[in-house]
Amino acid sequence: MEKEKFYITTPIYYPSDKLHIGHSYCTVATDTMARYKRLRGYDVMFLTGTDEHGQKIERIANGQGMEPKEYVDNVVVGIKELWKTLNISYDKFIRTTDDYHVKAIQKIFTKLYEQGDIYKSSYEGWYCTPCESFFTEHQLVDGKCPDCGREVELVKEESYFFRLSKYQDRILKHMEENPEFLQPNTRLNEMINNFLKPGLEDLAVSRTSFKWGIPVEFDPGHVVYVWIDALSNYITAMGYGSDDDSLFQKYWPADIHVVGKEIVRFHSIIWPAMLMALNVPLPKKIFGHGWLVINGGKMSKSVGNVVDPNVLVEKYGVDAIRYFLLREIAFGQDGNFNNEALIQRINSDLANDLGNLVSRTVGMIDKYFGGKLPDDRTETAFDKDLETMALNTAEKVEAAMEKMFFSDALVEIWNLIRRTNKYIDETQPWILCKDEAKKGELANALYHVAESIRITSILIQPFMPNTPEKIWKQYNIDSNLVDWDMTKKWGLLPIELKIEKGETLFPRIDMKKELAALESAIKASQSTAVANQGKEEKKEEKKKHEEPEYPAEITIDDFCKVQLKVGEVVGSSIVEGSKKLLRNIIKIGEEERVIFSGIKPWYTPEEMVGKKVVVAYNLKPRKMMGEMSYGMILCADDGNGNLSLLTTEKKDFPSGSGIS
Ligand code: MSP
Repeated sequence: MEKEKFYITTPIYYPSDKLHIGHSYCTVATDTMARYKRLRGYDVMFLTGTDEHGQKIERIANGQGMEPKEYVDNVVVGIKELWKTLNISYDKFIRTTDDYHVKAIQKIFTKLYEQGDIYKSSYEGWYCTPCESFFTEHQLVDGKCPDCGREVELVKEESYFFRLSKYQDRILKHMEENPEFLQPNTRLNEMINNFLKPGLEDLAVSRTSFKWGIPVEFDPGHVVYVWIDALSNYITAMGYGSDDDSLFQKYWPADIHVVGKEIVRFHSIIWPAMLMALNVPLPKKIFGHGWLVINGGKMSKSVGNVVDPNVLVEKYGVDAIRYFLLREIAFGQDGNFNNEALIQRINSDLANDLGNLVSRTVGMIDKYFGGKLPDDRTETAFDKDLETMALNTAEKVEAAMEKMFFSDALVEIWNLIRRTNKYIDETQPWILCKDEAKKGELANALYHVAESIRITSILIQPFMPNTPEKIWKQYNIDSNLVDWDMTKKWGLLPIELKIEKGETLFPRIDMKKELAALESAIKASQSTAVANQGKEEKKEEKKKHEEPEYPAEITIDDFCKVQLKVGEVVGSSIVEGSKKLLRNIIKIGEEERVIFSGIKPWYTPEEMVGKKVVVAYNLKPRKMMGEMSYGMILCADDGNGNLSLLTTEKKDFPSGSGIS
């Protein structure tokens, strides 16, 4: 019988230098679903890739003195490596610079133009480069990007427009009639009430002010708007718009697009409108997951609080990290990343509950029976209860997985693991072993535990792909006993079960020692050496930025106490809840520091980056907005409260230089 198809996608990632644990979260979740469906017998197509065009990439590449293509080629290698490290089992990786994609986008654009869904006009509005999004004046929040809160630029360009407004009623109807189209429900309601009901405006879908994009075939001065280019990847990767669209015929419509909450609008409104215009069926489901946050704030490179997944995997192994992400955070909601919680989960759920169960059972079979169970068994009073629970667990996991509730699925599996540990306590093998007449009960009890471990090892496969193999090796579990359906049958292990002692699955971690080591490993991997977001901090105290007071006259000795240095701004971001502050990352020679500065009314974060500034280097660090600030950036003040940064007259003067 032909397998049923299942097509699942992640967003395609912007090729940023370092994808962090937040990016990994989305991909690990999608991978888990893909693995689960494969185990359930589906013909799975799992697509991921990179979103390589746009002004943002062009600017980053130029900033690094590279051609955009050269820049993205380098970064994509690292992204693919990360997916390998995290055991991501994608079936296809699309790059939007791939030739077949470029051609298909040109065809799509031309088709929409020829049928009147795209028309030429001119555009005046606000553009957020980091989000690659257009906004009207009234959509801005406090004059900033409503999605990310950053500065926007006024753009006046001739542009092609997509008739988004034409599809508004059809999309609204589709969502109201098919609420499962967009999940969780909160996101569905948000799209309906905040975007569809107030009305959609036509969308500018070409740009002329930069070059790094797919040229419009019939008007090459324009490049295709990056979201039109990016969203289409889900069909072009399957061959839509090429000579061979057999994969498209087979796999489309997608069963699930997994996306982060901030890009739900693009996926649930713009993408369906494009598909309607192309007369292509809509995807079956869009799932908008929450963010992995650090101390309540979004993880971001410019904030300097990103956690490098490579560091975590190297320390604890990929399965532990995958388990933590999927267990700790309810998919769909935001969840806090926290070093202590990570170590706690590894110790209690992995080392204690699962690891210990596997190794102590092997140890007992070895000790009491020389590694091989006899076929002479006697039932114990506790068997039925364990058997029933073990045989029912798969069904509960299936129910949770259908809703993408990974955490609930893991809770069910861990209930079984804990029940199995309890069964050991109930049957007390260490007492049974003392009585020759109870050897049958002892053998039976250990067989039961081994069977429960076999079932567990099947259930954890989608979440923790490396661990099951290690268990199968120790229990000599044959590969034909580990299909998903074998979780619903009891007594499949051979009667004379043989074990081989193996490695400890998850070594216990000394919390105190490890916390410090982990924090310094994370810090070392961050662009700033001073950010310290490892510990869970209490709610941030909001302090006003107070300018230090100086005495009217000082001696030269006093003056010499202030050490001034040249620093280069390598990162800058706005500070939630502060009208004036920017959080800057300043490179001073080899060192990088976080310095808060009250200059937001005069400089945008983008304007700050790259500037050479003068820093009061030996100023006592102080806490601002819940975080330490290490020094002060000097500014001229015109007396009316207007500030201007002090800088070196020679622009290429090295950072770290002293000032005398
Ligand atoms: N290129 C667009 C997507 C185009 S899809 C047609 C994009 N790229 S991204 O690299 O910025 O983000 C990729 C995914 O990572 C998004 O789903 C985003 O929500 C997710 N995450 C980025 N940071 C995250 C967290 N801190 N936590 C959880 N997911 C996060 O958007």
